[in-house]
Amino acid sequence: MLWLGWREASTLLASATSRAMAELQGLISSSELNTLGNEWLIGRHLHQSSAIRAQGKWCSISSETLFAEGDDESISWVGSPPPGDALAAGNTNKRLPLTQVTVRNSAGKTIAAVCLVEQALYAIEDVYLALRISVESHHSRPNSVPVLASARRPLPTLERAHHPFPNGTLAVFRCESPVCRSHGDEVLVQVNQNTETLRRGLGVAYPCPSCNGEWQARWALSFVRAFGPMDTHRVAHSVRYRVMPTRTRRTIVPGPMTMVEKGYTTVDLRRWLEPPLSSKLIRYLNSRRLPNLLAAIGEDPQRIGGLLPGLLTNDHFRTFVDFTRRLNPKAKRGGVATALAHGWYPRRASVYRVEFGQEQDSHHQYIALSPESFLDKLEFYGALNNKGRFLDIGSGIGEKVFLAYALGRFVQCDGLEYDPRTSAIASFLLQQIAAYDPYPIRLLQGDALTFEHYGSYSVIYMFRPMHDPIAMASLFRRIAKQMQPGAIVFDVHQEACGLKKMDDGTFVTVRPHLNRRKGVWDRKTTLEDFIAKHGFSQ
Ligand SMILES: C[S@@+](CC[C@H](N)C(=O)[O-])C[C@H]1O[C@@H](n2cnc3c(N)ncnc32)[C@H](O)[C@@H]1O
Ligand SMILES: [Zn+2]
Repeated sequence: MLWLGWREASTLLASATSRAMAELQGLISSSELNTLGNEWLIGRHLHQSSAIRAQGKWCSISSETLFAEGDDESISWVGSPPPGDALAAGNTNKRLPLTQVTVRNSAGKTIAAVCLVEQALYAIEDVYLALRISVESHHSRPNSVPVLASARRPLPTLERAHHPFPNGTLAVFRCESPVCRSHGDEVLVQVNQNTETLRRGLGVAYPCPSCNGEWQARWALSFVRAFGPMDTHRVAHSVRYRVMPTRTRRTIVPGPMTMVEKGYTTVDLRRWLEPPLSSKLIRYLNSRRLPNLLAAIGEDPQRIGGLLPGLLTNDHFRTFVDFTRRLNPKAKRGGVATALAHGWYPRRASVYRVEFGQEQDSHHQYIALSPESFLDKLEFYGALNNKGRFLDIGSGIGEKVFLAYALGRFVQCDGLEYDPRTSAIASFLLQQIAAYDPYPIRLLQGDALTFEHYGSYSVIYMFRPMHDPIAMASLFRRIAKQMQPGAIVFDVHQEACGLKKMDDGTFVTVRPHLNRRKGVWDRKTTLEDFIAKHGFSQ
């Protein structure tokens, strides 16, 4: 329940030294800003402006109160803005109070700053992260300071009722949790809405001070009646909220806070700590030259690969794919395979679990070979420059079918997948990259043990689709019978597990070559010897 925004800074940030930043981490937890354990409670009534909160050798931390100009318009929120009640400390009449935490170096120059919306609780760790964001954005946003808003509030406490209250209206409430030690006791609460709103079960939900657990787990107090002259005698206790609760009710039914209040979805601040774009990617963006894109990929294949579908139109992505097809094998190393796999599916999953049933007991679920090993295997089996047709048996979400097309030179690449769900995902992913010129890729749904078209392929690839060795043996027998002379089949689950059919219908298998990535196809074998050697028959 944290929001990040930016507002104009009053002083420009100077660049931070690593010494000061290292010291800051320790300093920040020792600095006293109404500290509650590992959290800071920021509320105006507890505030003393412009005070030094912690002094170290290389830097110091101070805080002061600022006001956001005219409501919160001077703040530009990242993503969604906080809901109104997280900013309730300010409104159209009152400007939004902010506590600015400023870090200065030993020369007195500001090196980091963050503004915290008041009347809320902040984890010190989040504040430190926001300060780091301000340091890291020193170049890209020299004029701005991060702003944090939090919807978290500190736990309320119970105290003896004392009157008169300084301001606000009073109302009588009670906790209806059956397990609360104050169950049924009446307490006074200082409220900021009229009793009619409370009677209708609207307005703010107030957590019980006597229940156990975090704020969300405590019961919301139920409204009993407006405060009357008799209540000073009857109500012994009042509830003290260190800052005003603000979350609104959505039901009058008694229950824990999470049940009765309108909650917010949690936002993890860390996701804004994405490293800045690399200079290589920026060079590509400015030049739009494919070799520059390759260079950027080399630096961070996974990240840039995941960005490709957004950076490039589908037609440009297709151009990039055709560009990689023409690269020499050496230039295809260094992350291109990984980047392409993330281009196919930015949140690349290496495992896709399916429900186990009769079939799944003997058939493997989708577990993907890594893209870089796939490239190695294509090279080892001599398939990288093959201009024929490629088949992946058990193609899952289609990654290897796409990679075979993008990394190899095949005219056609097909995938055969037996599980309908993974197969549907594969078709969806292919549709997502559909270009003007369609990819020669087909995703077929079917059972490898009854497939009739192994004769149409020059390269048949698989990654152990079935556990059962006997099923694997019958798969190899089926393929060997149908395949064309010159075609190869290999299972990358084992080393050098490849079979090639010769013109006279006999078979050879492959062996590693000492100094080369590429294997040598020169070992004569019979189909049954091959099957026995790789343990497929038992
Ligand atoms: C280990 S995954 C291989 C994934 C992909 N080929 C790769 O190399 O990254 C095996 C896949 O084979 C599929 N499969 C298992 N038995 C099959 C069969 N008889 N016919 C077709 N596909 C099958 C599974 O559903 C699973 O998606
Ligand atoms: Zn209670």
